Amino acid sequence: MKKILVGISGASGMPLAQWVLRGLSAMPGVETHCIVSRGAQRVLKAECACELEELITLTDHVYDAENLAAGPASGSWWHDTDRTSMLIVPCSMRTLGSLAGGISHNLIHRAGDVALKEGLRLVLVCRETPLSLVHLRNMLTLKKAGAVIMPFSPGFYTWPSSLEEMLQHFSGRIFDQLGLQHACPRWREDTINRG
Ligand SMILES: Cc1cc2nc3c(=O)[nH]c(=O)nc-3n(C[C@H](O)[C@H](O)[C@H](O)COP(=O)(O)O)c2cc1C
Repeated sequence: MKKILVGISGASGMPLAQWVLRGLSAMPGVETHCIVSRGAQRVLKAECACELEELITLTDHVYDAENLAAGPASGSWWHDTDRTSMLIVPCSMRTLGSLAGGISHNLIHRAGDVALKEGLRLVLVCRETPLSLVHLRNMLTLKKAGAVIMPFSPGFYTWPSSLEEMLQHFSGRIFDQLGLQHACPRWREDTINRG
């Protein structure tokens, strides 16, 4: 059993978070845990027809982002299976900055901090543009600390014909980083010659 903790913070990209949770919920042998920040709840309203209640039905466990006493705040929670990873999708610059500064304002930051100190996989799907020097420095700090920095930058080489196809392809790239088997489209050598 793999345990995946998904932090959803208040950057643009809620449809991607929805796709990722949907994909994870369909995977055998994967248990999903989810934390949604206050900021994410605001962006969810702005970007999706999906309500928070609907989003969290896609996950096995949900935690209040303000509850710093919840399981993921403790190192031992991470080690009760041998393969726990954390993904933050989308990752806002506030969350990125808090992680880079080691400051736990909420449970997403604390859980990310624990993932880093315990040497576990932490994938950050950052979303902002353009990036300031502060954002870039924070990314560098977190990369050096062991995180995977994965800006939300979709590819076009699969010739996506809809937003859903594009999100599905990017979800697959995220699942690759988490070491999860999936059936999302991949780049193939012959796709390069389609045009
Ligand atoms: C509609 C909307 C879109 C936003 N998009 C982004 C974004 O793409 N990247 C970002 O860093 N912040 C974005 N923000 C600002 C964050 O939501 C804000 O900084 C918030 O405090 C982040 O808090 P959190 O990281 O705890 O979720 C957006 C806010 C709104 C309302």
